[in-house]
Amino acid sequence: MSSRKILITGGAGFIGSHVVRLFVNKYPNYTIINLDKLTYAGNLENLKDIEKKPNYHFEHGDILDIEFLNTVFSKHQIDGVVHLAAESHVDRSLHNPTEFANTNIIGTLNLLRAAQTAWKGNFENKRFYHISTDEVYGSAEHGGFFTEETPIDPRSPYSASKASSDHFVSAYYNSFGLPTLISRCSNNYGPFHFPEKLIPLMINNIINNKPLPVYGKGENIRDWLFVEDHARAIDSIFHKGKVGEVYNIGGNNEWKNIDLVNLLCHIMDKKLNRAEGTSQKLITHVTDRPGHDLRYAIDASKLISETGWRPDVTFEVGLEKTVDWYLANTTWLNNVTSGEYLKYYNNMYQGR
Ligand code: NAD
Ligand code: DAU
Repeated sequence: MSSRKILITGGAGFIGSHVVRLFVNKYPNYTIINLDKLTYAGNLENLKDIEKKPNYHFEHGDILDIEFLNTVFSKHQIDGVVHLAAESHVDRSLHNPTEFANTNIIGTLNLLRAAQTAWKGNFENKRFYHISTDEVYGSAEHGGFFTEETPIDPRSPYSASKASSDHFVSAYYNSFGLPTLISRCSNNYGPFHFPEKLIPLMINNIINNKPLPVYGKGENIRDWLFVEDHARAIDSIFHKGKVGEVYNIGGNNEWKNIDLVNLLCHIMDKKLNRAEGTSQKLITHVTDRPGHDLRYAIDASKLISETGWRPDVTFEVGLEKTVDWYLANTTWLNNVTSGEYLKYYNNMYQGR
């Protein structure tokens, strides 16, 4: 395993950029190929610190383009895949489900086909690792935690597309012996998170004194994990996970949205030297997300016992790091929230 050639898809996105950084720095003997279409969510600024490293390469392209995928596999002699490229935002999936089905289902199927073509049944030292989400399990609203045996019950177009892609990955393992792995993680947060998602959206709006749109009563519960802990879990599963298996990843850190927004208001008031309570006044309850899953809660004990992974970063430390990063990177924030994003934001939130 000393000199692998690993294709990471979606490496210019939020989680992908942390995975690329970790692999490039930790494994100088590996060649890391980042394949990304650079949609609104992909940004090469996220990788400035590693882009000149000799073991890093970028391929600009679309996972819907099978010819392009075949070329990348043969040009770089890929022997491992970590697949993160996806449309990832639930709210957008409610408005454009077809784009989610195309990218998340057909795009994943294309990658499976390209790996199958390139590897020609020789699966020694090969790995196809698909990054999925806890949302495929539905809503854990009657208590308890999602385990890997929890039946799949996706409830949004986004989670339906991810669940479908998971099934295709399992089908390639069962039908063709492709050496696949799947992981399903809870909500991530941290630097480079696109500010359409709850935590960076609230930070950005507090900085700009804009309303803080809490969906419904804010009683929905999410389990938050610092993104670098997710990247380390992906490293553990890629290297130590058992082929054909599914692994849950979570932070054991459940928060009601309204409590989390209040906490962020408190932290931001301190950071911005504003009187306590200033940001809280910006909280606005808006119309709920249709079909809004009440609770996600992950049991990650299989991952912990099989690989020894554990989250390193407490929520207190992770949130502080995150807030500090956004305050120190206002140019990044302004760049990604200008232009197209403003149109999206106004469509999504006006009159809600
Ligand atoms: P993101 O939206 O920040 O990034 C997605 C990346 O995929 C972008 O760089 C984008 O340009 C790229 N991409 C999109 N369509 C593409 C295409 N057709 N071809 C090539 N590249 C394309 O997403 P994220 O939050 O970093 O999530 C990454 C993965 O992790 C996704 O598969 C998501 O379902 C999963 N996931 C996310 C979370 C979370 O909390 N964000 C939690 C669990 C699982
Ligand atoms: O659980 C893993 C999933 O977490 C990933 O698979 C998805 O890619 C990722 O986007 C995330 O999905 P969520 O829908 O949970 O994340 P989001 O940040 O959009 O919303 C978190 C919670 O906050 C959710 O209950 C909706 C609520 N919310 C969100 C936004 C954007 C608000 O109340 N107001 C908002 O403006």
